[in-house]
Amino acid sequence: MSGEDRLIQALAQAKSVCVLTGAGVSTESGVPTFRDPQEGLWAKYDPAKLSTPEAFAADPALVTRWYDERRLACLACQPNPAHLALATLERAVRSRGGRFTLVTQNIDRLHHRAGSQDPIEIHGTLHVWRCTRTGELIEPGPDPFRSYPPRSPAGGLYRPNVVWFGEMLPEQALEIGYRAAASCDVYLAIGTSGLVYPAAGLTEVACQSGALAAEITLDPTPMSWRVDIALRGRAGEILPRLVAGESV
Ligand code: APR
Repeated sequence: MSGEDRLIQALAQAKSVCVLTGAGVSTESGVPTFRDPQEGLWAKYDPAKLSTPEAFAADPALVTRWYDERRLACLACQPNPAHLALATLERAVRSRGGRFTLVTQNIDRLHHRAGSQDPIEIHGTLHVWRCTRTGELIEPGPDPFRSYPPRSPAGGLYRPNVVWFGEMLPEQALEIGYRAAASCDVYLAIGTSGLVYPAAGLTEVACQSGALAAEITLDPTPMSWRVDIALRGRAGEILPRLVAGESV
């Protein structure tokens, strides 16, 4: 039996499924992965350097403009078949009384727009911004901010409600993710290079807990040797097959 057929069979019977997604799930929607070379105005900037509290403190206008442009670019993208297949799988597992937990490292909210009910955004989201003075949260509309950095009525600045390098991840979100990975029958790591912890740690926890663990990425990752099934290919092609129960 192929890895894909084994996974189809396991997903059809699973009582508890935990999924970790990364930037590779959104590439087919046109959202560049975090490690893709930047284009245009941003080509000369290293995303890892812009996504830090230090960069924001040094140049809040530059950092908030970069994030606002990424926010608007994501609004122009549509969920792709990978997002839609995960929402279908979630409905199927929950409709038979099973547990389904989707943990995402992505900040683009395409899982929400595809119909996933409660994705756990362990790196936050571009679509919520936070006042640096009061912690007030806002969801900016479809237009760019009028000026950068955007200022809050309280006299602070609005920053994206994302987790920057060096910042703590939302504790409760992480705890739910780890608990789901430790207690699931089937675990899928999709479109993630498995390079960034603690998110990447979910895969090890799932493997240790005895779940059937699978990885779906274009390229090998540090966890490829650890999972039971490693499928190489586009998430937008593989996931619909897994969910429809059709292997090629
Ligand atoms: N289908 C499946 N996998 C894909 C596809 C695709 N269409 N396109 C790319 N990939 C895979 C790549 O092979 C790679 O393994 O997705 C992965 C993307 O890896 P990264 O760019 O490192 O993204 P991610 O793992 O989400 O990064 C984790 O690190 O950079 C920080 O905070 C940022 O959330 C991000 C985190």
